[in-house]
Amino acid sequence: MRIGSVSVAHPITLAPMEEHTNPPFRLLMKQHGASLVCGERIDACDVAKRDRRAMRLLSTAPGERPAVGQISGRDPHEMAEAAKVVESQGFSIVDLNFECPIRRLIGRGEGGALMSDPAAIARIVEAVVKAVSIPVTLKIRSGPDGEHETAPEVARLAERSGAAAVDVHARSVAQSYVGGPDWSVIARVKQAVSVPVLGSGGIREAADVVRFLKETGADGVAIGRGCLGNPWIFQQARSLVLGGATIAPPSAAERARVLLHLVEGEFDYYGNHLALKRLPRTSCYFAKFLSDFAGFRSSIQKVRNIQDFRRLVREHFASVVPLTAASGVSETD
Ligand SMILES: Cc1cc2nc3c(=O)[nH]c(=O)nc-3n(C[C@H](O)[C@H](O)[C@H](O)COP(=O)(O)O)c2cc1C
Repeated sequence: MRIGSVSVAHPITLAPMEEHTNPPFRLLMKQHGASLVCGERIDACDVAKRDRRAMRLLSTAPGERPAVGQISGRDPHEMAEAAKVVESQGFSIVDLNFECPIRRLIGRGEGGALMSDPAAIARIVEAVVKAVSIPVTLKIRSGPDGEHETAPEVARLAERSGAAAVDVHARSVAQSYVGGPDWSVIARVKQAVSVPVLGSGGIREAADVVRFLKETGADGVAIGRGCLGNPWIFQQARSLVLGGATIAPPSAAERARVLLHLVEGEFDYYGNHLALKRLPRTSCYFAKFLSDFAGFRSSIQKVRNIQDFRRLVREHFASVVPLTAASGVSETD
């Protein structure tokens, strides 16, 4: 797949997820086979003024390229200024978020609120395309709610304004993350445009990727919650898509090794204080695929430093057995 000037090796990509898709996480997903990785949404107003937190979120390492930086906002000028910063940070693509359902953003008329106003989205895309030389893509939902499917029109207008690809989360903004996605909207967006269409929603195991690509005709898939604690889903899906063998799930020891690697990366990236606070969540995603999850969850609450954490992971992961495929993934993040 080609997104503007950027060549993407295969269709299986990492979806952006706030509080998850930090640089060490993205690098790990890349190493496990994601073709393209995307950082979390950042407010364009913060990026445009190079706010410290925004700039930290906007860090990228050469090893993860091609990488996507994502911004949200409603003012075309501000979005264009922010996109220039994303480009200057070394991202290969800038993605514009018109999908976020959180109340704070909707209240400001940003993110998913713009799915009711395709013309406003087109104006923003046009301004950003003029401002940067990297490809500009957009992340949208099916529409503001179940009754109004604006995605095909948004995609059409955005393509006319110069967008290089469209990524559709197959739920409405009103749905937020609750309930099943409706993949059929992705097929309709695919009909509406000639630029690549990617989609996401409800991918929980490798076989879902095959079904998704077949049913929607999409050029790519973005895996969201399905890769939390399970970076192996990328290689497993890639093998199935290529018609190859089913790759067996990793052993408990391999899960422990990869979790420890991710956590070391989080300590480097966030520093001790914040990384320690994140430990229970980061590690529970991995432990959910193994027996005695309740035991791990209660032990992790008592961990106060990285040494205790390493010991707990070594001991716990050596004493448990894998559960059956994907049974550990929760629907609600
Ligand atoms: C915790 C969380 C944070 C998310 N943050 C973002 C974000 O920053 N930007 C974005 O475009 N989508 C975001 N999404 C949506 C995902 O990119 C993706 O479209 C969605 O999770 C797909 O659905 P699935 O998780 O059911 O596969 C987020 C999703 C979750 C679960």
